[in-house]
Amino acid sequence: MHARKPLVVGNWKMNGLKASASEFGRMVEGYGAGLRHRVQLVVCPPVTLLSTFAVIALGSRVGIGAQDCHPGTHGAHTGDISAEMIADTGAAFVIVGHSERRIAHRESDADARGKVKAVHHAGLIAILCVGETAEERKAGLALQVIDGQLEGSLPEGLTGDDLVVAYEPVWAIGTGVTPSLSDIAEMHAHIRLRLVERFGEEGGRIHILYGGSVKPSNASDILAISDVNGALVGGASLKAADFLGIASAY
Ligand code: G3P
Repeated sequence: MHARKPLVVGNWKMNGLKASASEFGRMVEGYGAGLRHRVQLVVCPPVTLLSTFAVIALGSRVGIGAQDCHPGTHGAHTGDISAEMIADTGAAFVIVGHSERRIAHRESDADARGKVKAVHHAGLIAILCVGETAEERKAGLALQVIDGQLEGSLPEGLTGDDLVVAYEPVWAIGTGVTPSLSDIAEMHAHIRLRLVERFGEEGGRIHILYGGSVKPSNASDILAISDVNGALVGGASLKAADFLGIASAY
């Protein structure tokens, strides 16, 4: 049984300028007492907006997160951002191992593991993304692929309290296509099993989010699945009405 509030996270990806602060402000305003009581809301804007959003979110209980970090703490890494720098903005979460980074930046499970470790050391919560490609699912390898990603990306010494896992089938991201509800249920139950094996009782409390074409119209069905403890939302997190519509499914 999951004891924590469900978690709905918006991943803005490479979208948003200073002018987007007003849209984020509408999300914060719309996160009223009723919704706050039922669900935890987090928004992960591009790094350029982290500090601005953290200030807007002050006192609202809307969490802020980054979309990536460097595994190191400081030094000669031009263009990179450490987890400590992210913490310094007021953010509390970092997405790690998103398939767009695994594909476009050839990030491996070992890279993700280093980043999860850095996030943990900075006192932040890692949202580790896992997910199979369409080819892997067709070949019947989905569960096996996720096992490999979990095993390869979770560092020693991590506690379940510092971790959120997001299951995002690569073929469902930005496509409008989602797996069947039974396929989502099967995968989330499988991930739960692996987390309990790894973290014991704590593993039973880790949020497992579903991501991939979540929108207000399919949110209630997806979020009602057992072991789906929230959503990681891309496109539909850019507009306050859609994002709050999804959160309101709880
Ligand atoms: O991280 C969220 C994401 O990859 C899902 O994107 O646009 O399909 O909701 P979208």
